[in-house]
Amino acid sequence: MALSRTTLIVRPDQPIGTISPRLYGHFAEHLGRCCYDGLWSGTRFRTDVVTALRQLPVPLLRWPGGCYADHYHWRDGIGPAGQRPRRLGMSCGMQVEDDNSLGTHEFVELCQELGAEPYLAGNVGSGSPQEMCDWLEYCNSALDTALARERGANGSQQPFGVKLWGVGNENWGCGGNFDPVSYAHEYRRFATMLRHVDPSAELVACGHDDVWNEQLLAALGGANKLVDHLSIHRYWGRGGPAVDFTDADYYTMLGEAHATESFVERTAELIRAAVPPGKHIGVALDEWGVWHPEARLQPEGCDGCPRHAFEQRSTLRDALAAGVALEGFVRQCNVLSMANLAQVVNVLQAVVVTDGAAMFRTPTYYALQLHAPHMGATALALEIAAGDALPDGSPGVSGIASRGAIGTAITLTNRHRHAAADVCIELGQTVREPSGQVLAADTPAAMNSIDQPDRVAPRPLAVAAEGRAACRIELPPHSMATLRLA
Ligand code: AHR
Repeated sequence: MALSRTTLIVRPDQPIGTISPRLYGHFAEHLGRCCYDGLWSGTRFRTDVVTALRQLPVPLLRWPGGCYADHYHWRDGIGPAGQRPRRLGMSCGMQVEDDNSLGTHEFVELCQELGAEPYLAGNVGSGSPQEMCDWLEYCNSALDTALARERGANGSQQPFGVKLWGVGNENWGCGGNFDPVSYAHEYRRFATMLRHVDPSAELVACGHDDVWNEQLLAALGGANKLVDHLSIHRYWGRGGPAVDFTDADYYTMLGEAHATESFVERTAELIRAAVPPGKHIGVALDEWGVWHPEARLQPEGCDGCPRHAFEQRSTLRDALAAGVALEGFVRQCNVLSMANLAQVVNVLQAVVVTDGAAMFRTPTYYALQLHAPHMGATALALEIAAGDALPDGSPGVSGIASRGAIGTAITLTNRHRHAAADVCIELGQTVREPSGQVLAADTPAAMNSIDQPDRVAPRPLAVAAEGRAACRIELPPHSMATLRLA
């Protein structure tokens, strides 16, 4: 296959905005083996999993659902573990016996250990404003109230200071089958009361598709002042089988990932049209990722398929799809206020997979890790001055750039399945101490496993200086890379 040639120009004089670490968030739901049997071993968090997540890093973690959130009653998960009730845990058609051993205190402690900001999803579908207000007070109040004392008696005198609160989850579906007008009514009530309890809490309203979002914002009217973020979800599921995919499947999946950016843009546009000048509502993509057909309630048990509900094999193609989406998140950093990959361990596009006492990192883990230098940095415009396009019109080689405390970082994706790419990057600055890492493999279907945990992992990439202010790299087919300059 011919070499693809691309020239990119970084524009240090054209900052886009700050890349919030919240764009690299994660999602842990009580679903399948994500929390129980993944993160949580029954009495404590798994140290190997926590270590891997700390190294990623994980700046934000959403919990406890998902669809699980609208059945969850937070009081079940506090107090002595042995006295917590055993409840019916429900999400996505799955029913489990939930011993509630992983509750609010455990989750907040996990976040503290990870250095992650906690994001709690409240129960609108089967809960009440009072129940959610009590949870907020329990977590955040520094006053001498019965709920704050109870928190102290349960081990934390200090308030948890949880900033992010979801007012339900997918309330257009599993969270109560509301229509936009009836959800707006509920939202207004919940949000008004929550604001009284903690005016500094950031409240996330449940969004959906363009039609729902437009109608919800209209129905909220002046009450949109009670919304800090509007949540949307995007799963990519049209890329054929997880592993034995065709070329067409491969490009379809990257195309879906690419289109996520325009969904974010459209949502931001609808918000802009609905709210008064000066009012900002962020777009919260609080669930995103690949959802392969094999990740289902009852796995089919095909050769090599996962044996557990909602699990899937995760290949380099999935990592590239994540990389393509992350590029869009960076470009939209002024309107996108958070993004949480679904889900953090075992389930869907997990970054870590456990098997008994063993675990491994998926290629997607490394796609995110290649983005770590961008967290908190300033996104810079990056222009594709020359390059080819894929059949759907998206670029064959794409990327983003940022300037942070320790220099400039550029992350690129060679989306071509079969062609290597010769990439010249004009930096607009002197090339100093260039270094690179590339995530690649002989096939985009390559994956990691307990036996081969590092088959797909970043390796050093040669970066050649080209004159004073440019550099040149060769990207293997279906790969992504991060370059760093002092
Ligand atoms: O992530 C799995 C499920 O997908 C979540 O519970 C729900 O919010 C979404 O439909």
